[in-house]
Amino acid sequence: MADTATPNVIRRADYAPPAFLIDTVALEFDLVPDRTVVRNTMRVRRNPEASRAAHLELMGEQLEFVSAEIDGKPFANAHPHEHGLLLDNVPDSFELTLTSLCNPADNTTLSGLYVSSGNFFTQCEAEGFRRITYFLDRPDVMASFTVTLRASKADYPVLLSNGNLLEEGDLPDGRHFARWEDPFRKPSYLFALVAGKLVALEERVKTSSGKEKLLQVWVEPHDLDKTRHAMDSLIHSIQWDERRFGLELDLDRFMIVAVSDFNMGAMENKGLNIFNTKYVLANPETATDTDFANIEAVVGHEYFHNWTGNRVTCRDWFQLSLKEGLTVFRDQEFSADMAAGGGNSDEAARATKRIEDVRVLRQMQFAEDAGPMAHPVRPESYVEINNFYTMTVYEKGSEVVRMYQTLFGRDGFRKGMDLYFQRHDGQAVTCDDFRHALADANGRDLAQFERWYSQAGTPRVSVRTRYDAAQRRYSVTLRQGYGEVAPAARETQKGPLLIPFAIGLIGKDGRDLLLQLDGETTPSASTTRVLEFTQTEQTFTFVDVAEEPLPSLLRNFSAPVIVEYDYTADQLAFLLAHDSDPFNRWEAGQRLATRELLALAARAAKGSALQLDDSVVAAFARVLTDETLSPAFRELALMLPSESYLAEQMAESNPAAVHAARQFVRKRLANALHDDWLKVYEQHRTPGAYKATPEAAGHRALKNLALSYLTELDNPADAVRLAAAQYETANNMTDRAAALSALLNAGAQQGGSPDAQHALDDFYRRFENEPLVIDKWFALQATQRGSAQQPVIDTVRRLMTHPAFNLKNPNRARSLIFSFCAANPAQFHAEDGSGYAFWADQVIALDSLNPQVAARLARSLELWRRFTPALRDRMRAALEKVAAQVKSRDVREIVEKALG
Ligand code: TRP
Ligand code: ZN
Repeated sequence: MADTATPNVIRRADYAPPAFLIDTVALEFDLVPDRTVVRNTMRVRRNPEASRAAHLELMGEQLEFVSAEIDGKPFANAHPHEHGLLLDNVPDSFELTLTSLCNPADNTTLSGLYVSSGNFFTQCEAEGFRRITYFLDRPDVMASFTVTLRASKADYPVLLSNGNLLEEGDLPDGRHFARWEDPFRKPSYLFALVAGKLVALEERVKTSSGKEKLLQVWVEPHDLDKTRHAMDSLIHSIQWDERRFGLELDLDRFMIVAVSDFNMGAMENKGLNIFNTKYVLANPETATDTDFANIEAVVGHEYFHNWTGNRVTCRDWFQLSLKEGLTVFRDQEFSADMAAGGGNSDEAARATKRIEDVRVLRQMQFAEDAGPMAHPVRPESYVEINNFYTMTVYEKGSEVVRMYQTLFGRDGFRKGMDLYFQRHDGQAVTCDDFRHALADANGRDLAQFERWYSQAGTPRVSVRTRYDAAQRRYSVTLRQGYGEVAPAARETQKGPLLIPFAIGLIGKDGRDLLLQLDGETTPSASTTRVLEFTQTEQTFTFVDVAEEPLPSLLRNFSAPVIVEYDYTADQLAFLLAHDSDPFNRWEAGQRLATRELLALAARAAKGSALQLDDSVVAAFARVLTDETLSPAFRELALMLPSESYLAEQMAESNPAAVHAARQFVRKRLANALHDDWLKVYEQHRTPGAYKATPEAAGHRALKNLALSYLTELDNPADAVRLAAAQYETANNMTDRAAALSALLNAGAQQGGSPDAQHALDDFYRRFENEPLVIDKWFALQATQRGSAQQPVIDTVRRLMTHPAFNLKNPNRARSLIFSFCAANPAQFHAEDGSGYAFWADQVIALDSLNPQVAARLARSLELWRRFTPALRDRMRAALEKVAAQVKSRDVREIVEKALG
């Protein structure tokens, strides 16, 4: 047998500079759906910084080779093979012209050049450019691109590529052309083209230097009425990057194009961002408040890449977090400032965004770190790079960048960014280069900080405190380690981290105490101190402490770690009521709820009776009725930790027990606070025209949370009445979808209800022509509670045969399949293994259509070893079935690592 067990592992340690460089690329496309001709003329020369190679090895995939010429003459020594083109004995410097064919119409992978709804699009990151033409498809090869597009004028009236439009005109036989030039050198992964029947919303804006820029949002004609918010988000992003980082848009024209078939969120191609429609299209009738916020965040993210990613790019893909972690940090800061009305001083408003981000990190990235895919922010090896666009690279990477800002302050961070651009503009660099810029700009040695890039696993910080009343001294002892970690993480761990640990001390009256560390002569101005915790164990002593304080630990989540401290339930309730740090107020409530829920889940697993302490109910009641807190914050504080997060905290994950416990608490809170929920529901209605402001969204969120709790009442009649009326009268998708979800939820208690079915049918008819809304229709059903009489798997299987279902469309596949497999744990992990059997079938079906999407779905079973024995065995069987049948490198890497 062939050695299929040893896949090709790519290692960071093996990096070598390219043997050749490509200075210019002139691409000519004759766009035809099933037979596109690509002519590629490159100036190639040997890399003076690399060892001499006789042959030029270009990457190429799924291409039909036609011809090669060197300096205008046919070149006989060109050998096409499965992974590219080998050119024997090439000169030192030459012009190379290659002609090849590809088939965009048949390209279901959505990588390279493909057709979606009759239009052409490209996706080149990470390694899609080699599916368009033969090339040195690696990010450290940067070239100047000129692109000529030719196509039928009737079918493809709009022809776009990166940079500036040089000329356009008609050709014989109803064809036309456009020629584009990108004034900036770039790696191939930032190349893009778009051709088709599209229209644009346009704006002209002046940037800081006084130059006028053309902004366009390109969509299909029927979507033009859903582009305003994306355009506003783009304008806000441009302004924010000038204000906060002094970074100006460097092109005369900046385009966003929406496409409905897309593997991820969006792509930062130079001057021609291509977006999943989900992150562009919105109006109040079709998009929720969350959609509006996500669009703003993703538009910002891709725009911010223009500097952090494009002007300064990655030397190799191991450095992915250099651009992704940094750009996520920038988009998080942008969204936080926008939540605070565009300024950056309203810390309570900014905190709501921080809470949401940390919730995602803890729920998704911590889980990744606990499984077979655990890897450092800068991975050491991969089989398929597409599998490393992960929560760790993006979200933990963002936390690592945030820690520089926490250590040096906003101004120090800005100095570091300025130096980074001063040194590296126009280059392909590494995470080390970024760290050195931050260190040098702030006169610091950050050698120890490097471990944040090289160590996998979630650090744990355990805290001990001691108050000496006689000496008025309060000591805080911190100890760091990783606890029991996944085998994948263990081998990366070398030593203690530099952890910026923000702390405050709270007095009996609920107010912050002044902070003076031993050895200091006066207390500091701020009542939050960032301790630099660098040793395995370290004690920090505060002096002149008049009373025993309550510590507020890791304020604003100053590092991506787990904090262990034995708070009593009363202390947590006190923090929830008083902590001046809004993040830690929320955190106290989460700790309180998590602790109760885990205790209840343990009882539920044994079949014991459940009960909830009145003091917990009282703590939640205080938040619910505290008018001094913003509605957005109250909603976050009253939302219980998710089932998947809770299951992950158990020694043995038991989704059924977690579900029972969480439902029990929801019911208890609903019944005990019935009148308060009703009152909150009434108080936070937002009558009149829909406004997408953070305040209005906060009211809707709290009101709809109240509605969802009301559906848990023993008698949900009130909830059904309110939800049905809200459904009918809603003038926006946030309220309509929340009402539909409430009806489904209330109906589940009775094993399905006519109100819910009526609303579902109405919803479908109303939005039949809005694919993004139909995605919600599928997702709501896939994530519904279900009941013993009506398991959700039956609904999901039925919906797989619905005429509107289409496995080839990633948004649709995600809305039904991923929603069920990743966002409905209690139903997915049904004891009979029906969820896993369904999962296996879908992974196998997707594997041959779209490996990137298949590999994402494959990951929903990776934590199988942590579940109860009965589930574990069934999950392993499903994984083995998949491992035996799939072919793509993408899915094989995931399932082989899972089975380990
Ligand atoms: N660089 C993109 C971003 O973070 C994400 C991305 C990577 C992507 N690979 C992709 C998007 C493939 C779509 C398809 O914004
Ligand atoms: Zn990105």
